[in-house]
Amino acid sequence: MEKRSLGSATVRGRRVLVRVDFNVPLTEQGQVADDRRIAEALPTLRHLQASMARTILLSHLGRPGGKRDMRFSLRPVARRLSELLGQPIPLAPDCVGIAAINAVSGLKNGEFAMLENLRFHPGEEANDPAFVVQLSQLGESFVEEAFGVLHRSHASTVGVPKRLPSCVGFLVEREVRELSRLRNHVDHPYMALLGGAKVSDKLPLLRSFLGLADTLIVGGALAFPFLRARGASLGASPSEEGLDGVVAEFFEAAKAAGTELLLPEDVVVLSPGAPDPVAVPVAQVPEGAMIYDIGPSTRRRFVEALGRSRTVFWNGPLGKAEDRRFAEGTRTVLAALGSVAGYHVSAGGDSARIAQDLGVSGAFQYASTGGGAALEFVEGHELPGLVAIPDA
Ligand code: 3PG
Repeated sequence: MEKRSLGSATVRGRRVLVRVDFNVPLTEQGQVADDRRIAEALPTLRHLQASMARTILLSHLGRPGGKRDMRFSLRPVARRLSELLGQPIPLAPDCVGIAAINAVSGLKNGEFAMLENLRFHPGEEANDPAFVVQLSQLGESFVEEAFGVLHRSHASTVGVPKRLPSCVGFLVEREVRELSRLRNHVDHPYMALLGGAKVSDKLPLLRSFLGLADTLIVGGALAFPFLRARGASLGASPSEEGLDGVVAEFFEAAKAAGTELLLPEDVVVLSPGAPDPVAVPVAQVPEGAMIYDIGPSTRRRFVEALGRSRTVFWNGPLGKAEDRRFAEGTRTVLAALGSVAGYHVSAGGDSARIAQDLGVSGAFQYASTGGGAALEFVEGHELPGLVAIPDA
């Protein structure tokens, strides 16, 4: 279903609240390490500027847990956006209350203000009605441009759009159009290549791929609970406890759904005091060693499987790819994917950045800014933040 679009909204002279997902990685020095999510919102922001709207930017950064924690300030983001837009973007020190009211009441047509991290207030994640009212009163209409957070039922994603005339921005429109290709008319074999570390976040999402994808290829820390359930030792690799039941049930469900599950059979490990990493079969990870990548025979198996695919969805590296010593698994597999014909989507800011750093972003026809949101969308779940916007 098409959503009401910014292209047909009247915004001139109006105070427009724009929910963006500027949850970007920062360097240790507090600079924006990857500005992709900021750059992707520029067409919408330029449109609002050219249409003489008074634009108020709302975002979260990280997970400060409802407390004011300046390590999660949007200050570096406002600075980067100022550079990209070529004009100063003032940052109000709070997203509600007098500081926010002052920031928005001084805005002139065509100007921007950014408000400090929404998640400094517990009301954001709790979708607290009083917080929703405070936010909504700052604007006269709402633009949803935060694709990466549409799977969250938060004040700014579902509360505010229910109170103001609302539409989607150009990035959300494009994400929905592109990712819908993985919901309707998928070319088979369809394979999901999944890795990364947010294991308990991702396990339920993995489950939803059963029956949809023909093959699930799992690496990274995400594979650890599966390997342990199959009797492999993980050495000293950190692995969440209490997932054995979920995993056992997963194996059963995969069998019933007829979805093939490919797991690492060898891994690259580093033992304490050892000068170099070595590859070992998953059954022979030395005590005290940590697993950092998939091994060479696993890479061959993954590459061979992907060679038969027609559609691929990728989220999360297959090892600790930000460290050059452990990037080879991810790089080899994605480089090989580059010569496989079909529709390939990468999901998540981190995944896109890794693909770029490894020189393999050409393997993908589309890079979604959403991680968890993209996963949920392609699995056919309703995204609460999208449901909250009226249909066109
Ligand atoms: C993301 O980075 O996936 C989004 O910004 C959502 O962040 P969250 O997982 O902390 O809600």
